[in-house]
Amino acid sequence: MEHDSPKSNASSDLIDRVHHEHVHLRRLFEDLAGTFERIGAEQTSAERKRELIESASEDMEVALDDMLEHFNQEEEIFFVEIEERFPVLSDRIEALVKGHELMGQRTRWLHEQLGKSAEEIGRNLTVILDVVRSMARMIEEHTEEETALFDDVLTKIPADERRALLEKMREI
Ligand SMILES: [Fe+2]
Ligand SMILES: [Fe+2]
Repeated sequence: MEHDSPKSNASSDLIDRVHHEHVHLRRLFEDLAGTFERIGAEQTSAERKRELIESASEDMEVALDDMLEHFNQEEEIFFVEIEERFPVLSDRIEALVKGHELMGQRTRWLHEQLGKSAEEIGRNLTVILDVVRSMARMIEEHTEEETALFDDVLTKIPADERRALLEKMREI
């Protein structure tokens, strides 16, 4: 580990930033799973259920916005740069982009469900909760694959270029 070498700073900034966003996204879905569990609990009153649905809907909107912004940054900057430099990694990148599409679709579907009536949401709760939990798992797996890719790649990119990449990412 070269923590105090100036050359390693840009890449650790970059990795830290992406890592921070991954943690944030996973936590959002874990919290949402908790909210849906409370919505489904028998002891929760009808009024409280409606409040929880409203707050879940707001949280889902935040999750969707933050997630799409994060995916866009990865696809427009990281993935493009990586593929240009290391065409051999294009299959791994393609798989990650497919993951983004699937997670985006599922989150949009979840957000749509939250626009329905409390009764309807109550009837679909098992499916909704399954999808929310599957999202938390997908984010976790996706993050592992992505972190491995970034680690492989960033160690191969010269320090000054990593810095330039970080600057570009900040402009988005
Ligand atoms: Fe990603
Ligand atoms: Fe990511």
